[in-house]
Amino acid sequence: MSAASVKAAAQVSVGNDFYDVEAIRADFPAMSLLINGRPLVFLDSGASAQKPNVVLERMDRAYRSEYANVHRGAYRLSELATENYENARKTVAKFMNAASPDEIVFTRNATASVNLVAHSFGRAFMKAGDEVVISHMEHHANIVPWQLLRDILGIVIKVAPIDDDGNFLLDEFAKLLGPRTKLVAITHCSNVLGTITPIKEIARLAHQAGAKVLFDGAQGIVHAGIDVRDVDCDFYVFTGHKLYGPTGIGVLYGKKDLMNALPPYQGGGDMIEIVTFEKTTYRETPARFEAGTPPIVEAIGLAAAIDYVTGIGLDRIARHELTLRDYAMEQLGAIDGLTIIGRPREKGPIVSFTLDGAHPHDIATIIDSRGVAVRAGHHCAQPLMERCNVAATARASFGMYNRLEDVDALVDALKTVKDIFG
Ligand code: ALA
Repeated sequence: MSAASVKAAAQVSVGNDFYDVEAIRADFPAMSLLINGRPLVFLDSGASAQKPNVVLERMDRAYRSEYANVHRGAYRLSELATENYENARKTVAKFMNAASPDEIVFTRNATASVNLVAHSFGRAFMKAGDEVVISHMEHHANIVPWQLLRDILGIVIKVAPIDDDGNFLLDEFAKLLGPRTKLVAITHCSNVLGTITPIKEIARLAHQAGAKVLFDGAQGIVHAGIDVRDVDCDFYVFTGHKLYGPTGIGVLYGKKDLMNALPPYQGGGDMIEIVTFEKTTYRETPARFEAGTPPIVEAIGLAAAIDYVTGIGLDRIARHELTLRDYAMEQLGAIDGLTIIGRPREKGPIVSFTLDGAHPHDIATIIDSRGVAVRAGHHCAQPLMERCNVAATARASFGMYNRLEDVDALVDALKTVKDIFG
């Protein structure tokens, strides 16, 4: 399809289904912002997504008239807050198709969830010489926790390669698995290349080798959704703020028996059964892993965000975003001197690029003066930058509220960059 026809098709419908992007934009206050005197063109949802009114209003209500600490008070307001918090867990469980809400642990973000697994799974099941397999396109959040564990236990980290287009190499990955592999920890969607990894196959191969498997779904759940039972993963982590929910709330999905076989990560209130100075016993998951006052209102806000995206339909949002991705790939790819970094077969709506003669930070700063917001830098993926032979990239990442005009605005703004840098 030509650029014009991609654009025309997307404006009328997505698939057979009308996607009313203007109505969606009206739900997001940030879509009306003026930045540097220009309407905001927000192309950094991969870093953090904007929030719809329903999330903001739900959290406001929770704080104004439904707020108390949870699991503690024998009074109505605390019961109401507890109900709302535990209903949020049910919403997340249903969204991921978990077998039970007990398999959902609320954390601070995806990073905290990975650290929890590294600490607790590492202590329970790993010893010197045991192996964790990650991939070359991991975010630092799925590299550094394993290195910290390596420093403590002497485990070995193996790195599954990617090809030059950014495809995950399943055969090469399979060769890394062996009797010492205890855990496979791989991204569901690269935050730089957009690569969607073959999670079902990865899980199957990991299990065949006797290993457990964790997916970092920080980007993946937003664009592809997750059915943890279909994929049969042992752990899946994500964060609320990229899914149009608040910051300060993350999720660790973990199979119940496995989670109950792990020692707690942090100690404190609410995660215990009996405490004496001699000995303490712990509750089962999820309480076991939620020491202290949890992110109550953030969990409620996340549930509101999930209700919002599922109300519109994750599939419909994904189709809309892929239309934006295709249009962006086409339009950006036509700019002289611009190189798109990452052309995998399965790709989410994330487009990283470099422009000859212009540092990505300069690109981001210049186009910001036109109201266009993109991320620039190493994207917390320094080993991947090295693999791609770049120090940094600029990155446009799309959300449910973006429209084709946003791509046009990016392309126009990049022309200014080219004018400045020749
Ligand atoms: N992990 C986030 C990103 O890719 C912050 O931008």
